[in-house]
Amino acid sequence: MQPGNKIRKLLEEMTLEDKARQLTQINALYIKPTAKAEVTGVSDDMRLSDDDIRGVGSVLNFGDAEDAQFVRATHLENSHSKIPLLMMQDVIHGYRTIFPVPLALGCSFDTQLVEECAHMSAVEAKYNGVDVTFSPMVDLARDARWGRVMETTGEDPFLNGEMGKAFIRGYKRGGVECCVKHFAAYGAPEGGREYNTTDISERNLREYYLRSYAECLKEKPAMVMTSFNLLNGIPVNGRSDLLLGYLRGELGFDGVVISDYGAVREMIPHGYAEDERECARIAANNCIDIEMMSSTYIHNLPDLVRGGEVSAEKLNGMVARVLALKQKLGLFENPYNATDAEKAAEVCLCEEHRAIARRAAIKSCVLLKNDGVLPLGAQCKSVFVGPYADSKDILGGWACAGRKSEAATIAEGVKNLLGRSVTAVKGCDVGLLSTDESGIDEAVSAAAEADVIVACIGEPADCSGEASSRADISIPRVQVKLLERLSALGKPIVAVVFGGRPQVLTVVEKLCSAILYAWQPGTEGGNAIASLLYGQSNPSGKLTMSFPRSVGQCPIYYNSFSTGRPKGEDILSNCCYNSSYRDELNSPLYPFGYGLSYTRFEYSALTLSSPVMRRGEEVEAGVTVSNVGDCDGEETVQLYIRDLFASVVRPVKELKGFKKIALRAGESAVVTFKIDESTLAFYTADGVLAAERGKFIIMAGGSSQNVLSAELRLED
Ligand code: NOJ
Repeated sequence: MQPGNKIRKLLEEMTLEDKARQLTQINALYIKPTAKAEVTGVSDDMRLSDDDIRGVGSVLNFGDAEDAQFVRATHLENSHSKIPLLMMQDVIHGYRTIFPVPLALGCSFDTQLVEECAHMSAVEAKYNGVDVTFSPMVDLARDARWGRVMETTGEDPFLNGEMGKAFIRGYKRGGVECCVKHFAAYGAPEGGREYNTTDISERNLREYYLRSYAECLKEKPAMVMTSFNLLNGIPVNGRSDLLLGYLRGELGFDGVVISDYGAVREMIPHGYAEDERECARIAANNCIDIEMMSSTYIHNLPDLVRGGEVSAEKLNGMVARVLALKQKLGLFENPYNATDAEKAAEVCLCEEHRAIARRAAIKSCVLLKNDGVLPLGAQCKSVFVGPYADSKDILGGWACAGRKSEAATIAEGVKNLLGRSVTAVKGCDVGLLSTDESGIDEAVSAAAEADVIVACIGEPADCSGEASSRADISIPRVQVKLLERLSALGKPIVAVVFGGRPQVLTVVEKLCSAILYAWQPGTEGGNAIASLLYGQSNPSGKLTMSFPRSVGQCPIYYNSFSTGRPKGEDILSNCCYNSSYRDELNSPLYPFGYGLSYTRFEYSALTLSSPVMRRGEEVEAGVTVSNVGDCDGEETVQLYIRDLFASVVRPVKELKGFKKIALRAGESAVVTFKIDESTLAFYTADGVLAAERGKFIIMAGGSSQNVLSAELRLED
């Protein structure tokens, strides 16, 4: 990137100290302290002087429009350089109007909807002073124990790439720049434990983990965030091969790279860098343009440049990228950007945004089981029990400026829909370790009056998200107890399950007639769920992460390998010389791509325009999808491939396309997908991305475990 005149001039005027500060991001609490400042946002390791604080280039987590005005004004007044601040915030699934968590949104398989949600959040965020959001997160996640699975769109690299691009388009259209994260492979911590080590072969890294970041860069996000983790023995911030060779070199990313919170300094506890000076030297030489929430640059970069350990040219390049972003945002002309408290108040939580949030929640819920009890009739005598029956704690982690008080609970949603109040009894706490069964009797007596019991259960809201891994992802014991007692009443139970991750629902499946997975549905959750339960809307979500039967199956994902000793049928193994468990099936309880509707879709006539494809040619796959049920519905048609024999073994299935269609009852449609060499390509044994000639199975269906197949041969 060649800096323009303005930036060249600034670079000439700035001292080395100014430059190090420009490359530092601090919590806005340093500028606008609150009563909570000491415990939440400032770090003892930072040791910042007043001059440092005045001179920093960017802040994060500053609050709303008024806070933003204050922080921007204070900074302008005090800073010597008068270079405007870059203001960043975690706008992850909505700003004030909160839509479902990204993992739930992924289940909509609807990129347009995702773009709309991102657009809506950007509009609310920009008037509240946000220049750049720390989103989208496109880490591939295969282990539901990891708390941050809620923040990704799931276990498939293709889907994550498509969803990531949709987020970026939406944010940009709404007037906010974005930051793709967490580069790289943050989604594969060992044991699903947050911040833990990742160890992935370089081939797997390219094939599965790097793909979605690479795909997202096609939409030109302004920033990329590096991750905390060790990757194959080296902290990511120390991996020149990835940061310079791959990201800057191969992918040609010339935007701003930022570290994660404190991660540059964390190279010390990782056991990689001896002191802060070394951290700064390593990170700067890898072109980490902004150090977030540690101060190794401020304290060491000027000296490192004077001593020749970081070149002046490198430093100028880093500063120039940060200034160029500020210029692109128009901050030099208007340091307040779009910050506008009045406009913010107008758009936040407006009816239009609530409607999008409602639509998003409706399309994100996944119907996992239904023996016919759903939808409920308006006259049906239903009683709502469980900790989520009337809970407003349904926004999900990273709910930004969302307020629980503004969320619609299930009981409220049903009341809004039916125009009458409903009985809602908590029965027990949501807590993972709660043993208090004292409320269960009351819930059971209330349920005894019902035709249908709706049990609203799940994991506590704060048990997913950052630093919220779980070793056991079953429904908390006391809630299972509640279900068991309800089940003894002999009435149909509909479970509505909340959570920021797939949970083990094996017991719930046995005890309930229907299961609607609601995730963390956001502000409009209760209204959306009511609409689905009573059939005003038809469920259409499909899972983007496999649901294990037992936690011991984690990590579990659909695009796995057959092994040399595959287990033919899905029965418990009585011969141990195949790849299986003695005490559990191999398959998930609910697979990737699975989700029911109130209608039924049948697939027939999967055809290829030719059974043979020559290099450079294209083949069209077509499949007929028919709505053979009684009501209108939406279906996500999924295209998978399998490369039967290759120089590097290929997974049993790989998603290569999806299309969401609406079909009226009785209607059919032919859905087509283009297949070319790029569809069949993978990183071969020679390390090149290419398709190898030979036999492929092309599959289409409504779930990864229910597909039609046809054979295709690629010839030279
Ligand atoms: C740490 C998280 O890992 C990252 O995703 C987030 O954007 C930053 N903190 C800033 O809050």
